[in-house]
This record gives sequence, structure tokens and C-alpha cells, in this order.
Amino acid sequence: MLEVHNLRKVYGDFAAVDDVTFTLPEQGSLAVVGESGSGKTTTARMIAGLETPSAGRIVVAGDERRPGRLRSRERRGRGRQIQMVFQDPYSSLDRRQRVCDAVAEAVRLHRPLPAAQLQARVAELLDMVSLDERQARSLPKALSGGQRQRVAIARALAAEPEVLILDEAIAALDVSIQAQILGLLADIRRTIGTALLFITHDLGAVRHISDDVLVMQSGKVVEHGPVASVLADPQNPYTQRLIASIPKPGWKPRRRMPQSAA
Ligand SMILES: Nc1ncnc2c1ncn2[C@@H]1O[C@H](COP(=O)(O)OP(=O)(O)OP(=O)(O)O)[C@@H](O)[C@H]1O
Ligand SMILES: [Mg+2]
Repeated sequence: MLEVHNLRKVYGDFAAVDDVTFTLPEQGSLAVVGESGSGKTTTARMIAGLETPSAGRIVVAGDERRPGRLRSRERRGRGRQIQMVFQDPYSSLDRRQRVCDAVAEAVRLHRPLPAAQLQARVAELLDMVSLDERQARSLPKALSGGQRQRVAIARALAAEPEVLILDEAIAALDVSIQAQILGLLADIRRTIGTALLFITHDLGAVRHISDDVLVMQSGKVVEHGPVASVLADPQNPYTQRLIASIPKPGWKPRRRMPQSAA
């Protein structure tokens, strides 16, 4: 579905992304992890067509992307295939627009539909992200962070993308809400077959829903493989530290032993 070959992005004499290669199969799920500044967002923005690569190739659904600036028609074309959801949904939502209108706008942008069909499609998308009718009539300020992220996901899905990129999209949410959104995304992947690219600091959060993981450090891929084997046998010291920092489920701090009187 998505092939990235030797992707590179330089700013001046600094390589933010340096020779990144991976593939994301149809309905696949790949986690991209790495410390701050390792080049994750820059990689995602190039794939989404928001940034021009300095070198390398991007192939989406068998369709080779030409290097150089995208013309706006091509940009819209890619926009349909690849959608991105960011960490802070509030900043991307229009504060005066009700949820249902925001989703309708996203649908209209990609496929003009007669009013009745538009309404049905909006209802379908809201149902996909489990937002009810009352929430659909609300303004963003009346929603929780998790609900706003559901709106952002519904808007992204309106474009019927082949690949959904989530850039730290659940990082700011409570752990229980993160789990709900991850469950929702797993359902979406299963039911409509959208491939998922998760960008995260938290390998622990996505290990259950990602098939593969790619670890980036200073713009380079330092480890890449199936989640289970990378977790079981990490080769790179940075990956080893990352895995060591995942909290163990069921782990509780050991009770302090009473001081012995001896
Ligand atoms: N437009 C730009 N001009 C110059 N340098 C940039 C630009 N965009 C990103 N960079 C630099 O490229 C490097 C990679 O940035 P990027 O945002 O891709 O990292 P990241 O892995 O997403 O980090 P984080 O986890 O903090 O989001 C950083 O050193 C950043 O400062
Ligand atoms: Mg980033």
C-alpha cells in the first residue's frame, strides 16, 4: 500500500530524515517510535505530501510520487489516499462549527454528495467513531479530548484514505481513553481496511495493535521488524532502553518492608 524508499530531508546541512526505507502493506499497522527530534513527523509530512523530500521515493497504492513540489491537484489526490491526525485536535477544529458540520465539510471536500446522502455518510462516520447524536450537535468546546480526537479521526476517514497516519494522536489523553481510541482504530482497520501508521513515543501503547515497528534515531532507522520479535530481542541499545522503559502490566511497587529492629 505504501512504499518508502531511501527517503531523505535536509534542512541546510542537517539531515532531519536520512535514508528511511519501509513498506506498509494493505491493512497493515506500523508503529514508528523514536525520541524527540528523530525525524518521525518530518517523515510523516513527506508521506502526506505536506513536505517535499530532498531525495528518495514514495509509492502509494502502486502510484509513484514525483519528487519536487506537488501541484495542488496532485496534493488533493494524495490527500485522499493519505490522511493525518495530529496530537492536538482542538487546534484543527473550527470552534464555531458543530461536530456534524465539521464532518460534513470533510465529506464534501472529497466527494460532493446530494444532501440526503451527505447526511447518511456523516451519520455513518460518526457511528464509526462512536459519537452519538447529542455529541454530533455539540461544539468542540463541549467535548472531551478523546471525543475531539474521535471527530478528527471521522474527518480523516471522510476522505476514505488508504493510509491513516496518527502523529502522537493519543499522547495527550488519559491511559484509559488511549486504550479506547486504540480499540476504535483496530476496529476501523478490521472493518474498512485502512492501513495505520502510528507515530509514538510509547511503544507500550501500540504494541497490541501494530504488526511491525520501526525505531528512528537522529533521522535514521536503527531497528525494524515485527513488534513481537523486536520486543523479545531488541538489537539496538536505544531500542533496548525504550523497551526497558515500558511499564509492565500488573506491576505494582513493592511494599516497603518494615525496618528490622536488629
Ligand atoms: N522546517 C524545519 N526547518 C528546520 N529544521 C526542522 C524543520 N522541521 C523539523 N526540523 C528539525 O528536524 C528534526 C526532526 O524533527 P521532527 O519534528 O521530524 O522530529 P520528531 O521525531 O517528530 O520529534 P517529536 O517526537 O518531538 O515530535 C528536528 O531536529 C527538528 O528541529
Ligand atoms: Mg513529531
